[in-house]
Amino acid sequence: MGLCSSLLLLYLVLVCFVNDVLSGRTSSFTRSEWPSTDIPLDNEAFVVPEGYNAPQQVHITQGDYDGKAVLISWVTESEPGTSEVWYGTVGHEFEHKAEGKNTNYTFYNYKSGYIHHCLVDGLEYNTKYYYRIGTGAAAREFWFQTPPEIDPDAPYIFGIIGDLGQTFNSLSTLKHYMQTGGQTVLFVGDLSYADRYEYNDGVRWDSWGRLIEKSAAYQPWIWTAGNHDIDFRPDLGEVSTFKPYMHRFATPYVASKSSSPLWYAVRRASAHIIVLSSYSPFVKYTPQWYWLRGELKRVNREKTPWLIVLMHVPLYNSNEAHYMEGEAMRAVFESWFVHYKVDIVFAGHVHAYERSYRVSNINYNITSGNRYPVPDKSAPVYITVGDGGNQEGLAARFSKLQPDYSAYREASYGHSTLELKNRTHALYHWNRNDDGKHVPTDHIIFHNQYWASNRRRRSLKKHRKFPGHASLIAKYEEELFPVLA
Ligand SMILES: *[C@@H]1O[C@H](CO)[C@@H](O)[C@H](O)[C@H]1NC(C)=O
Ligand SMILES: *[C@@H]1O[C@H](CO)[C@@H](O)[C@H](O)[C@H]1NC(C)=O
Ligand SMILES: *[C@@H]1O[C@H](CO)[C@@H](O)[C@H](O)[C@H]1NC(C)=O
Ligand SMILES: [Fe+2]
Repeated sequence: MGLCSSLLLLYLVLVCFVNDVLSGRTSSFTRSEWPSTDIPLDNEAFVVPEGYNAPQQVHITQGDYDGKAVLISWVTESEPGTSEVWYGTVGHEFEHKAEGKNTNYTFYNYKSGYIHHCLVDGLEYNTKYYYRIGTGAAAREFWFQTPPEIDPDAPYIFGIIGDLGQTFNSLSTLKHYMQTGGQTVLFVGDLSYADRYEYNDGVRWDSWGRLIEKSAAYQPWIWTAGNHDIDFRPDLGEVSTFKPYMHRFATPYVASKSSSPLWYAVRRASAHIIVLSSYSPFVKYTPQWYWLRGELKRVNREKTPWLIVLMHVPLYNSNEAHYMEGEAMRAVFESWFVHYKVDIVFAGHVHAYERSYRVSNINYNITSGNRYPVPDKSAPVYITVGDGGNQEGLAARFSKLQPDYSAYREASYGHSTLELKNRTHALYHWNRNDDGKHVPTDHIIFHNQYWASNRRRRSLKKHRKFPGHASLIAKYEEELFPVLA
């Protein structure tokens, strides 16, 4: 081999190294998609529990600000029945009782069952509770585990799922998540996709409730509303918004001083979780804007180091699907996210996976023309997990050039897990559904934006602007480099 070819080889190796390691990655993995069709209603995934008027579609969510309460919800089809929950810490002995309420709604020609919501509060932390709902032979029993007390070092595992729907891919996502040991689901919007059916068929809201019960009856799902949850059909005389969603999925919004179930916050273990609504007013002086401004001031990183924001529409998205839809909210809220050093913003909507570096674009100046995202150590990482598996299929077309801010992107189904270890470290995975298998694909270690900041300042000195992958990565290597384990 001559000198020239040796040099060429060296050059190629270097180029490959630079491309693989120093720039964002668009995965070349293409999965053979299972058909994106909904599971038939008579499938066992939607099984109706036996017994007259048996409670079905059981799901729970956090019921207060700090994790000492749960809201338990279920549906009875034939008659209201009771809205009582019997519960206790010993299996099959239900010594306490809580009394809930039931509601119902119609949507065009669909009539819902009786939807029960019952708040069970005054619980102990770190305790397994058993609960029973329904009566007689049709009574059903479940359990849940309360989180550890609010503490900066309280470990906790969250799952993140978005745009789930009810196909065989959705079921695969759900089953994979249930194998991870995740303790609470952060759901980033677009639940049932019932609105894909004629008259937004409520029957598909019911089947979805039965689909997720296997997880949601045993651990809280923290709800965020998406566009498929709006159900706005003026042509059918249905002129309100989020009618089925808000009847079926309760949130503890009053506990965080919110005026709407669509935006609220909860604190759980070492995390402060803020839920926003992409489809409610959010510009300056609107209720959501006032609420978020106040809630961010209430965040206490000494107690809950991990500040996580959920929304449906991603603020950073380099997929052709829903391109730029998050720009309006980005313009309003991004500077707050940077100011308050949000750790992660999770979103859905785009049916693919994408993770950003820590960047911000808050210096827009109409005079100077300043308009590019720049590396910003105070900025959140933006993660899109709209890849739950709904019937609309994958968003396979990413922009040809991967933007500098985009660290990893792949059009496959899957879900994420975030393991908070202590006040400084968290381990994050994106798990691809590889047909039957669950394959951890994108991993990073998060260093907390509040507690780990001194350490980061020491090792990350240079501050340079885009473009230039090298400077960006040098700056963020410690924070965001993939775990090469
Ligand atoms: C639905 O609930 C309302 C009370 O909110 C009640 O008056 C009405 O009878 C219920 N509808 C049906 C069909 O039971
Ligand atoms: C915008 O840029 C112009 C020109 O560089 C500068 O004079 C002005 O102060 C900037 N405005 C803000 C709000 O930063
Ligand atoms: C936090 O967790 C990380 C990862 O498990 C560990 O390396 C580190 O030592 C822990 N820090 C403290 C203060 O416990
Ligand atoms: Fe969506």
